[in-house]
Amino acid sequence: MSYFTDFRAQAYSSDSEVSSPDLQSRCSESENFDTPSTNGSVLFDQLDDADFAVREPIDEKYILVVGGCGYIGSHTVWELAKAGYNVVVIDNLSNAFRSVFERIGSMVNQHYELQKHRQPCLRLHEADFRDQQAITNILEEYAASPIYDKEYPGMIQQRCSNITGVIHFAAYKAVEESIRQPLKYYANNVGGLISFCSLLGNFGIKRIVFSSSATVYGTVADRGIPLREEYCSQKTISFVDHNGADTTVEAGCTGLTNPYGRTKWMCEAILSDLAHSDSEWSITALRYFNPIGCDKSGLLGEDPRLCATNLMPVVLRVLSGVMPILNIYGDDYNTPDGTAVRDYIHVTDLALGHVAALKSKPSSGFSVYNLGSGRGHSVLEVVAAVEGVFQRKVPTQLVSRRPGDVGSCVARSSKAEEELGWKAERGLITCCQDIHRYLTLAEKAGNMI
Ligand SMILES: NC(=O)c1ccc[n+]([C@@H]2O[C@H](COP(=O)([O-])OP(=O)(O)OC[C@H]3O[C@@H](n4cnc5c(N)ncnc54)[C@H](O)[C@@H]3O)[C@@H](O)[C@H]2O)c1
Repeated sequence: MSYFTDFRAQAYSSDSEVSSPDLQSRCSESENFDTPSTNGSVLFDQLDDADFAVREPIDEKYILVVGGCGYIGSHTVWELAKAGYNVVVIDNLSNAFRSVFERIGSMVNQHYELQKHRQPCLRLHEADFRDQQAITNILEEYAASPIYDKEYPGMIQQRCSNITGVIHFAAYKAVEESIRQPLKYYANNVGGLISFCSLLGNFGIKRIVFSSSATVYGTVADRGIPLREEYCSQKTISFVDHNGADTTVEAGCTGLTNPYGRTKWMCEAILSDLAHSDSEWSITALRYFNPIGCDKSGLLGEDPRLCATNLMPVVLRVLSGVMPILNIYGDDYNTPDGTAVRDYIHVTDLALGHVAALKSKPSSGFSVYNLGSGRGHSVLEVVAAVEGVFQRKVPTQLVSRRPGDVGSCVARSSKAEEELGWKAERGLITCCQDIHRYLTLAEKAGNMI
């Protein structure tokens, strides 16, 4: 059942203390790893099951963040709130905890108390974005007065909404699982997007920022050159490449290796077609490279219900003893030390990329930007950075390459800098230091790393 929580209910309470993170999930392959239960907030729980359908319509402007309790979503909600946006989150909590939203609320309270500014409003609707009825009810609540037809009074010419933009994070993202359960991925990531966009359109909401991924470059990444947006395009495109040669890339993708990657490419294709069919839509797809790190306060981090399988969470599980050893898949790639190279981007930089995308002058149509640092780090460099910051040894062993892995995947990030005025500012060491702070706070609060 969908419920609604309005953070402003807490905003004026005395509970402005920002608590330490409680790493509830501590997802683990090991049954021994304790998973503390979610601590419910009294303030929030009182609001459970509030009937939002009977509430007064909202007359302020909002950004809708779908999947806003997840890793990247939560950091983006925090940056949006600091930038002064009212935010409404929809999340079914399939891979997140409700207390993440409460924590952001406390952080926002404290931030604005210090600033002595009126704080923006944060609201959470726990709902599945594929649930047409629940989403219709939520969007009704934010509906603004429609524009009526001048010739036929009483006839609605255009629906309007107080939601001025949507950031769509909600998706399943585990590559391995997508190979085993492709339909689950196509249903949520692709099917969900289609029905959701139809509803948004019905409510006159036509500005979307979509979470895409560098995975859409497929085997183009094997070429070992910085990946530019044109290498995977939804329309045939001509440009001058890094060698100064005139190049044409046909619409399509190259060598996608798994269903997850295909869902991202399909979503981009659908959104591109949608924007092409109706010039009122303005859609931006952001292709993330490898997000790591956490907010510098150490109060927000990566805390999924399901086990994250990317390099950094695995390194941290090895460091904490939950896993005995880190497998390094291949040291014979064409990279400086032979191990795979990725473009790691601090999640705060990534979150700020979404704020930049929203702030940029909305052009009609479909645009794509890489969000990466433009700099690659090998597996061995990541391990060394973690060891340096944590002052602990990470046990590793070399194993053979994993099928589907590419040697190097690094962004050419100048398009986002030129057109959105955004670039990544934080490096690998900062990422490790911020994670260290987060885990230290969690440990102090009595939660295992
Ligand atoms: N983390 C990465 O390495 C990475 C890299 C590239 C792209 N992306 C994309 O970025 C987006 C966010 O990634 P993340 O790492 O924050 O993942 P996440 O799993 O932490 O966050 C996704 C959120 O969406 C919610 N969600 C999923 N399905 C939903 C549904 N049907 N209805 C409502 N809520 C739903 C989950 O509960 C979760 O809170 C995803 O689209 C992912 O594919 C992530």
